Amino acid sequence: MFDWLKYDNIVKKGYENEEKQISEFLKRHIEKNAQIRELPIFNKPDQEILNRIEAMDIPAHGRDSLEVARELVDDVFEHAMLIQHPRFYSFVASAVSPYSLAGSILTDIYNVHAGGWELAPCAGLIEEKLVKWMGSCAGYGSDKVGGVFLSGGSMANMSAMVAARDSRLTPEEFSKGMVYFSDQTHSSNEKGLRIIGFRNDQIVKIPTDDRFVIRTDLLEEAIVRDLAAGKRPFAIIGNIGTTNTGSIDPLDEMGKIAKKYNLWFHIDGAFGASILISPIYRNLAKGVELSDSLSWDTHKWLMQTYSCSTLVVKDKSTLLNSFTEHPEYLADVNSSEHNDSWDLGPEMSRPHRAIKLWYTIQATGTNMLAELIEYSFFNANLVKKDLKKLPWWKIISEPSCGTINFRYEPEGFSDEQINTLTDRISKEIIESGFAYIVTTTLRGKKTLRMCIINANTTEDDLHKTIALLNEIAVRETEKMRAS
Ligand SMILES: Cc1ncc(COP(=O)(O)O)c(C=O)c1O
Repeated sequence: MFDWLKYDNIVKKGYENEEKQISEFLKRHIEKNAQIRELPIFNKPDQEILNRIEAMDIPAHGRDSLEVARELVDDVFEHAMLIQHPRFYSFVASAVSPYSLAGSILTDIYNVHAGGWELAPCAGLIEEKLVKWMGSCAGYGSDKVGGVFLSGGSMANMSAMVAARDSRLTPEEFSKGMVYFSDQTHSSNEKGLRIIGFRNDQIVKIPTDDRFVIRTDLLEEAIVRDLAAGKRPFAIIGNIGTTNTGSIDPLDEMGKIAKKYNLWFHIDGAFGASILISPIYRNLAKGVELSDSLSWDTHKWLMQTYSCSTLVVKDKSTLLNSFTEHPEYLADVNSSEHNDSWDLGPEMSRPHRAIKLWYTIQATGTNMLAELIEYSFFNANLVKKDLKKLPWWKIISEPSCGTINFRYEPEGFSDEQINTLTDRISKEIIESGFAYIVTTTLRGKKTLRMCIINANTTEDDLHKTIALLNEIAVRETEKMRAS
């Protein structure tokens, strides 16, 4: 028999503890954040901690929840990589806005079901307003604009391809459909296409030029060739901010090609679409307004906690066409006047991700966020200037969207030796705990990649990071020469 009294006691205790937990951990988090610059980027869990967790049961009887929470903080969260550290320059990781954090906590406390409009009309309105604002940043300028908040760029890119497929192909044509994007396009695009049923031979990667942007002459050539072979080109994908180099494709040229061949034009702006709010840098994305859809992750450059991404489309009916289902159990809660977000994307139950972005923008204003974007461009240029003053450092990709690739190429070293040296420099700087810089590979060359989009990164952080990289590079070069 279910013991209500016992259950009730557990719940009451849970609520009492919740207040203590939230204030205790928030206080700890704020204190830690205040001294984040002094902390190592990764306090790796030792074997003892891993063994302790490994040995834990999934208990039949509960235990003190405060104790559980403390274990989680001490053993789990304190030993995760501090990707918000101002000298964490890898992936596409920014600082988190305290307003996003607060918005996220609020969203969790109220646990709003953000699937249907009727479940939280005011929250739905907030999401709709943000989607429209993002559409206006992209220059979509139409009252048909729509979209949906999703977990990340991967889901946004995949959902865009569902809409593209359904709007340009009949089901009979699916097996002949062809999609084109540059060889620098994020892997989530390819993965998404495979998830929704496309084969590898339906995905064409177009070479890029020396700025790592798509060669539109080769793009058009590939489309013409496939049309002549009886295939059905249906979509092209452009980039605002590629992951490797922050490059921006020639969107206006791509838009013209899309129009000429009646193709869906998607833009993966998961990383870089945030430049659209900067009056200084939005011009770099000229042609974005010609696209049909845009992925925009605010958990990348706009300081949101995971997860917060938006898929914006020029014509909302394309999403409705692909994602609407009307099961009998939702008949009473489907909104007749507004769109339910379960009809705009693949998710049904989901957290209200728009709330934290709304909270952040209301509290900071878009001007401050635009300044953050501009600061990132400035910082990547500063790194370039520092490197230029030192011997043997070579810029492999020019600064773009706060991202720069470079490597140390000492005299007399072969390409293979430089690749090994680059790996060693990365490993050493990571082990120092001072900065986190991983490698990537561009045209077969291993490079050090810095993505500098954290609002808390200072000029001093950058000068010290480059000085340390140089010190390591000189030392490792000597070691390699001696061996
Ligand atoms: C350009 C680009 N697109 C898509 C993604 C995937 O986004 P997410 O990790 O949010 O799914 C990333 C991730 O870094 C990215 O840089």
